[in-house]
Amino acid sequence: MKLTKEQIDQFNRDGYLFFPSHFKPEEVKTLTEAVPEIYARREAYNVRERGSDAVRTNFAAHMYSKPFAKLARHPRMVQPIEELFGEQLYMHQFKINGKMAFEGDVWQWHQDYGTWLNDDMMPEPRAMNVAIFLDEVNEFNGPLIFIPGSHRDGVVDASHDTTTTSYPLWTVNNQLITQLVQRAGGLNGGIISPKGPPGSMMLFHGCLLHASSSNLSPWNRNTCYLSLCAVSNHIRRFKRPEYIAHRDFTPIECLPDDCLLNDYPVDLPWKDGMPASALETSLDILKEAA
Ligand code: SIN
Ligand code: MN
Repeated sequence: MKLTKEQIDQFNRDGYLFFPSHFKPEEVKTLTEAVPEIYARREAYNVRERGSDAVRTNFAAHMYSKPFAKLARHPRMVQPIEELFGEQLYMHQFKINGKMAFEGDVWQWHQDYGTWLNDDMMPEPRAMNVAIFLDEVNEFNGPLIFIPGSHRDGVVDASHDTTTTSYPLWTVNNQLITQLVQRAGGLNGGIISPKGPPGSMMLFHGCLLHASSSNLSPWNRNTCYLSLCAVSNHIRRFKRPEYIAHRDFTPIECLPDDCLLNDYPVDLPWKDGMPASALETSLDILKEAA
């Protein structure tokens, strides 16, 4: 799949591209069918909402679930990013965010590259976020919201919020968000929110400011978020466990375009459980050495 010049210009200007219904319903079904069993597992990689059993974020499903391992190698997702970066990619992070009906909590305003830089020492914002809608996203079930063009400011000030939700995040204060929304057009396009059917795909720059509100609707908003990093830009520090920030920098080899509908061999290194090393961090290693 090749991007047009207009799409490349639009990405550089706005910091995101939206592809409604990029994957077919029968392709998405192979993914959604696998989710309940993944969420039922009592494993560190399932982070639950505060005071609830609902999964907020599942990490690293591509390491132990065949449909998601195939998605991680899908040419319709990988090739446009290779084209934008002009380089091969590895999987830096792989998540399924539940944002479950009535229970899905907010994601505060943040940039992902802030975390990749502060925690993982990723040299440049040459990693792309991809959102693939597993459920319909509408105005009621906590859609992702963006400030278009905010990626052009690079990394902005953020502070580590460990209390608002069950997942710590480097978040940006309301005053700066107000200024950036105003600059992006205020009520006329200063915040946008792509919505669409399951199978829609969004690419967004690691510095694009984004957030989402809670899900008070009766509809789940499962979304798969993948972060693919240019191989030469791999992280330099292993402060976070490997199931959150991956340490295998092998370039992704794509499968054929029909891979979600047909059987292809894929490696599932964590299918019988995560190795102890996937929970270790460089801080543990430093502690052992002390
Ligand atoms: C994220 O920013 O990583 C997740 C946001 C969301 O799921 O709404
Ligand atoms: Mn994010």
